[in-house]
Amino acid sequence: MMKMPLLLVLLLIGIATLLAPDLRSASALNVRGPLLKSQTYLSPPILLLPGSVSNKYYLDIPFPRGHLALKSFNAEVVDERGAPVPLHETYLHHWVVEPYYAPAGSKEDDAAKNGSAAFPNKVVMARNSGVCTNTLGQYYGLGSETRRTATWVPDPYGIEIGLPPAGHDERWLLNVHAIDTRGAVDRLGCTECRCALYNVTVDEYGRAIGEGYTGGLRCCYDGTRCSAALARGEQELARKVFLRYTVTWQDWSPAVLPVRIYIFDVTDMALLEGKPAGTACRVEYEVEEACKDQGGACVHVLETKQVLPRGGDVVFGVAHQHSGGIAASLRGDDGRLLCESVATYGDGEEPGNEAGYIVGMSTCYPTPGSVRVRGGEALTVVSNYSSERQHTGVMGLFYILVADHVEVEQQQKPGLCFSFPVSWCLPSWVSSNL
Ligand SMILES: *[C@@H]1O[C@H](CO)[C@@H](O)[C@H](O)[C@H]1NC(C)=O
Ligand SMILES: *[C@@H]1O[C@H](CO)[C@@H](O)[C@H](O)[C@H]1NC(C)=O
Ligand SMILES: *[C@@H]1O[C@H](CO)[C@@H](O)[C@H](O)[C@H]1NC(C)=O
Repeated sequence: MMKMPLLLVLLLIGIATLLAPDLRSASALNVRGPLLKSQTYLSPPILLLPGSVSNKYYLDIPFPRGHLALKSFNAEVVDERGAPVPLHETYLHHWVVEPYYAPAGSKEDDAAKNGSAAFPNKVVMARNSGVCTNTLGQYYGLGSETRRTATWVPDPYGIEIGLPPAGHDERWLLNVHAIDTRGAVDRLGCTECRCALYNVTVDEYGRAIGEGYTGGLRCCYDGTRCSAALARGEQELARKVFLRYTVTWQDWSPAVLPVRIYIFDVTDMALLEGKPAGTACRVEYEVEEACKDQGGACVHVLETKQVLPRGGDVVFGVAHQHSGGIAASLRGDDGRLLCESVATYGDGEEPGNEAGYIVGMSTCYPTPGSVRVRGGEALTVVSNYSSERQHTGVMGLFYILVADHVEVEQQQKPGLCFSFPVSWCLPSWVSSNL
């Protein structure tokens, strides 16, 4: 009779040390270790020559399977030896990761695994929760800032995956847009996809590129080449790089609160122009050189409004900008700041600190419950760039994670507390399940 309670207490202490820190701190990654799983994968090889562009869609990439809560996605470009490749050699214009649903057991996407074949029909993209209707459906996506931008989803939240519709498998698509700028005549021009440097007259769909379009994705599609002056022979410089990515997750449980992913785009003027919201996401825009006219204030400000479909608590936010970007912000309809994300530039040569490139974007982790947004609220997106010189093909995206609002006190109120051997509590969801 005496043994049972003691055993139970020991068991509870064991469970508590395993789980209790989970609700207290998002930074105590090592403590939460037992719940978290992590795996590192390599993309298919990306073949590059000096000046060449690879913009391929890889289907059915290696990814964790099952009903899971995604906690982070980190990545970087590495060479065949696994060594990180700096941005001034392989510029990571962007990468995008998105789930899709394919008929269960189908092999149709095998042929497209290495980015070569056409996209199979019968595949349904899973898409995030909005806001743009035809573009920006990804779950994750970053560019040159990848190495130093947090993607961690704070506790107790997670991105819920692994619930495909009946008769379907969930698979994952990876798109990597990489530009090899070794020996480039104009490195920044190549990364900004200046049409003049790419010697193209039609875009990838064969449509003529007009005079007015000076740079952007229409000029640096898969297979194009940016002008490069080469000291050595081409074949000698051919290389294979990979996107090496690490996914961290935990098994889904009722203790995890699901988040919705929203991506705002500063180029979407639909609402301001009285069109249906989210229908005019152009993704890219241009910054004219405008320093002289503005008395030294060399800042290009682009601003728009987009409607948030469903409200809740903002639990994470980050912007995506290209070289020249300064910062971006997202505000509520009363002007309150939801998140500001500021660009960090490198000042060296080594991977993660490349001078002249955005090597990181700051992120927002509001105290749970402190930053609320309403469904239908028109949010203001602002993207600032330096206008000291012209920039083409720039972006101003804002990525946020929103969870249904739950009273924080209730959520954090421990269910069962003890004062021996030290004072400690069981999280309520554990004690309520006992
Ligand atoms: C994709 O590339 C890998 C590595 O180069 C190769 O082993 C595999 O057979 C390719 N798969 C397809 C479907 O082409
Ligand atoms: C540009 O393209 C034209 C036609 O496609 C080709 O004849 C010419 O050699 C190219 N120029 C350079 C510098 O690659
Ligand atoms: C953008 O620039 C304007 C004008 O300089 C400034 O008022 C605003 O605070 C800036 N916003 C961000 C997000 O940096």
